[in-house]
Amino acid sequence: MAETTPTPASTPADPGPSAPAASAGAKPAAPRPASAAGASPAGSAAAVKPAAPKPAAKPAETAPSPPQTVTRREFLNYVWGASMALMLVQTVGITVLFALPRFREGEFGGKIRVSTADFPALNAAPTENNLGKFWMVNTDQGIQAIYKVCTHLGCLYFWDDLSKRFACPCHGSQFEYNGKWIAGPAPRDLDRFAFEVLDANDNIIAESPNGKPIPLPANAAAVRVDTGRKTLGDSHF
Ligand code: FES
Repeated sequence: MAETTPTPASTPADPGPSAPAASAGAKPAAPRPASAAGASPAGSAAAVKPAAPKPAAKPAETAPSPPQTVTRREFLNYVWGASMALMLVQTVGITVLFALPRFREGEFGGKIRVSTADFPALNAAPTENNLGKFWMVNTDQGIQAIYKVCTHLGCLYFWDDLSKRFACPCHGSQFEYNGKWIAGPAPRDLDRFAFEVLDANDNIIAESPNGKPIPLPANAAAVRVDTGRKTLGDSHF
């Protein structure tokens, strides 16, 4: 009979060279430095590193804005503003036009200068100024410049030397030498112009703002008749 060799009941298996470190003799793993772990240990203020300065942020790239549109309110505001500006310009323009003289001196509607020698002698036949459309008379009360248009319907009347009166050929109105109504359908006396009396240096030495007769001063040299300032004759009704 063969002799058998008894085997031990329980022999720990040989772990071998590749056995894990879980055996009693294995060393614990060394702790990793904090920096390597990526977190600072709690309660250790000295270990906190100052934060590194962040690089300047790049300006954000802006997306192209959509095309601007005018709202209804903005449009109405623009229209209102333009209307106000236009009205202001018109107001200023009209004011300037009215402030400026509309007629220049020497033309009808403006001032017309005549010599005192152009006036007739006292109560002599009137002389006329066609440019200014007036008759020059010299009455006992002084000189006058009488508008040549009839106060009825606007005809040009004439001087009738026989009757010593003004007579209108249209409807027969008649007026005295000083423009007073005598007869006919004309509703009022003849109209007259304002005038200034000037000396040889063109200084104003007398004036008649309502066209009523004033005597000529001894040093009068000229008369400036303002055909833009007409005074209506007195009504006889
Ligand atoms: Fe002179 Fe009629 S227009 S009387």
